[in-house]
Parts: sequence; structure tokens; C-alpha cells
Amino acid sequence: MAGPEPLDMLRALPRIRRDPLEFLTHAAQTYGDVVEFPIPGQRVFFANHPDAVKQVLQTEHRTHDRATVQYQSLSLVTGNGLLTSDGELWRKERRLMQPAFHRAVLDQFVEHVDIAVDRLLASWARKRDGDVVDVDDAMMRTALEAVGRSLFSHDLSGEAGELVQAVLKALDVVVARARSPLAAPLSWPTLGNVALRNSLRTLDRTVEVMVGARREALRRGAGPETPDLLAMLMASEGFDDRQLRDEIVTLIVAGHETVATSLTWTWHLLGQNREVRDKLIAEVDDVLKGERPRFEHLSQLTYTRQVVDESLRLYPPAWVISRRALIDGDVMGVEVPAGSYVFVSPYVLHRTKDYWPEPQTFNPERFAAGAGEQNSRFTYIPFGAGPNLCIGRDLALMEAVLVVAAVASTCTLDPVIGHQVTLDPLVTIRPHGGLPMVLKKRF
Ligand code: HEM
Repeated sequence: MAGPEPLDMLRALPRIRRDPLEFLTHAAQTYGDVVEFPIPGQRVFFANHPDAVKQVLQTEHRTHDRATVQYQSLSLVTGNGLLTSDGELWRKERRLMQPAFHRAVLDQFVEHVDIAVDRLLASWARKRDGDVVDVDDAMMRTALEAVGRSLFSHDLSGEAGELVQAVLKALDVVVARARSPLAAPLSWPTLGNVALRNSLRTLDRTVEVMVGARREALRRGAGPETPDLLAMLMASEGFDDRQLRDEIVTLIVAGHETVATSLTWTWHLLGQNREVRDKLIAEVDDVLKGERPRFEHLSQLTYTRQVVDESLRLYPPAWVISRRALIDGDVMGVEVPAGSYVFVSPYVLHRTKDYWPEPQTFNPERFAAGAGEQNSRFTYIPFGAGPNLCIGRDLALMEAVLVVAAVASTCTLDPVIGHQVTLDPLVTIRPHGGLPMVLKKRF
């Protein structure tokens, strides 16, 4: 079996804490496609091959569930929502929610995203040319408002600051618990547990207000014109208030932090790569002709989409996807007993040169039609693969293209000289301490 010896692993602990992405990349390069990490009391396998992705996430998904440290920690926040559930409950949730994300209804989301973009552009319009803005915070607020309006017809902009902080704080605690084998019981009043409780209170209150407002509207016969996801969830039989809360919190958490993070990295990459940015601006100006992006523009914004795809390759927000084996089996021929954890890393896979020539280079053209670099759909997995493929994929991609095009048509964002951007692999890969950039107005 290939993998580090227990002593090597012990020695590597500080390195793992400091830079888990570098550690995983090194492990894949050193030990090959399937690596076992010697962890006391738990068999843990890391697979870095498209065949393993296909096997674990797709072909054998029925014998792999999400009862892993990653998802159990996350469920402290999201409860038993669609992202953390398995089996019958998962099937029921997915069947119920899938129609709300169908491609045919995506055009309805454009106006919701546009309102969020409007607020972003208005707030940046009030800035002076050359001001430094926190792009990370701005993208979080925009994505939060977009998801609130799109899925729940609810305006979250008023509490965006508080809610964004609550989610980030809660996810910090999730990561700290996942990393520490000796996390204190939740009932103990540690700093982390208190922070988690406060964040959950904020999230629960948001859900209560949202659901309460909708029930009140329904009593007055004044629901939304077209039924949204909230209407579907509330009308569903067998979902009590707790389940409803879990689904809404899951969608708020999974639906904004990921999109925001991918947008933040896109601005970072564009700031570093002026040629790409010039080409993007040329496309945006040519297609939009000074208008705001609408649904009809999306099919013409092909380079913008390639930029988003390439940014998701280099910085896939969900950098690790884990499963637990339910039965004795194997991964690509390596024996994996029942109860083992098996995980894949979109980040490491997307930067493996066997599948991606010059993997560290930001080159959106590799996603051009016919360029053929996406040689297998299991080498490019920012949204996962198989039946648990991200339900919000099409919404996320549409939203990202709309935001990039709308912002690029009005301003550019330059790096702050001297600011070192470092990666924080938390629940998603985030820039440590936010992403300050210099705002330059184009007109
Ligand atoms: C760039 C943005 C996004 C990225 C990178 C992303 C990534 C992912 C990944 C990797 C998975 C698979 C998890 C697994 O297999 O265990 C997933 C699942 C999921 N995502 Fe996303 N996501 C994004 C946007 C969204 C949005 C906008 C929503 C909702 C509005 C959303 C909701 C979900 C849910 C509910 C699941 C669980 C699906 C299931 O298990 O059936 N995501 N996402």
C-alpha cells in the first residue's frame, strides 16, 4: 500500500495544518493515484485519478455515503439538508428540489441576480477612483442577496453583513472541529462553541423571519407570482419546520459562499493576467454594448464563461469531497474495507499535469469549444460528479457570468501593490483576510 509511514505523518502534522493543499499535492506526486494516510482508528484513502472519481462518486455511489468528518461537521450548521443527507431522505429532497434548478427556469433568476448586481455597482459607484475595496466581502454580499431572491424571493440585503459573518464564523468552527480529533463536546461553553451557537441563532432567526413572512403573505393570498423553491419546500408533505430550516440553511450556505469565492478568485486571476482581462473586456463591450447583461447575452459571452470555468479549475471552492465506504471493496484495485473514508480533491486533480498541460497557468482558452482539454468529465470536478453533482451548478455558472460581465463593463480591479494573497483552505478555499483590490472606474 502506498502512503506515508506513521512517523512521516506525525512529522508532517505542522505542515498539514499550515498548508493542507501543498501536503495533498505532494502526497499524490509521491505515492501515486491512491494514497493511504496512517491515521489511528480510521482508514483514510486519498484518490487522485479520474477513474477513482468516477468509481466513488458515480458508479459506486450507493455504497459510499457522506457520514465523514467533513459532512458531519458541516451538518452542525446545515442539519440534515440536501448537502449532508444520504439514502431515502436525500432522494426525497433531491426529487423535490431538482425542478427549481432546471435549465428551463434559469432565465427567471436573471432579474434577481441583476438586483443584487445593481446594489454592488451602486456601492462601488459611490467610491472614488483608486479606492481599495474588499472584493471578497462584496462578492459574499452580492451572492447572498442573489440566492435569497432567486430561491426564496426574499431580500437578505438588510442583514447581509450579519449573515455573511455568521456563516463564516460557523464554518470556521466547522473546520476547527473537523481538524481536531479532540474537539470539546458541543455543550461546553468554549469560544468556538459559543461562536457557533450565536451564528446558528442568526441563521435560525433569518429562516424564521423568511418563513413567517411567507406564511403571512399566503394567508393574505399574496405569495410570489411564480412559485419559488421556498413555496415548493413549504408545500412538501413530510417536511416539518426543522427539516424546512435545514433545507433553507443548506441552500443559503452552499448557495452563496461557493459562488462568492469563485468570483473572488476570478477577480484575483484577472488582476494578475492583463491580457486575459483585456480580452474579456473586449468581449463584454462587444456583446453588451453598454447594456446590463440579460439572459439572451449569456450564449454570446463565451470567453467570459471560459474565464469562469478556468478560475474554477485553479481555485475550486470545494477543494475536497469525502465519502465513507459502506462495504468492503476497492478503489482502482486498492483494497478499501467498510468504514474507510475515501476522498478526492478537485484542487489537486485540477492541477495534475497528466490531465492538464501547464496546470498552474491561467489559460481560459483551454475551455474553448473544441480545445479538448477537458478530456474526461471526471478530471474537472468543481461541482462534484455523479448523483450528488451540485444542484446549483447551472445557477452558479449563470450568476458568475452575469456578475463578471456586469462588473467588467463598468470597472476594473487591480491588485494592491505589496498585498500578498494567500490561500485559506477552509470549507471552501478562501483568500486569507479577504481580497483587497484597487477599484478603477472605466467611464
Ligand atoms: C461555484 C459555485 C459552487 C460550487 C463550486 C459548488 C460545489 C459543489 C460540490 C463539489 C458539490 C458536491 C458535493 C458532494 O458530492 O458531496 C455540491 C453539491 C451541492 N451544492 Fe453546490 N456548488 C456551488 C454552487 C451552489 C449553489 C448556487 C447552490 C444552491 C443554490 C448549491 C447547492 C448545493 C447542494 C444543495 C448540493 C448537494 C447536492 C446533493 O447532494 O444532491 N451549490 N456543490
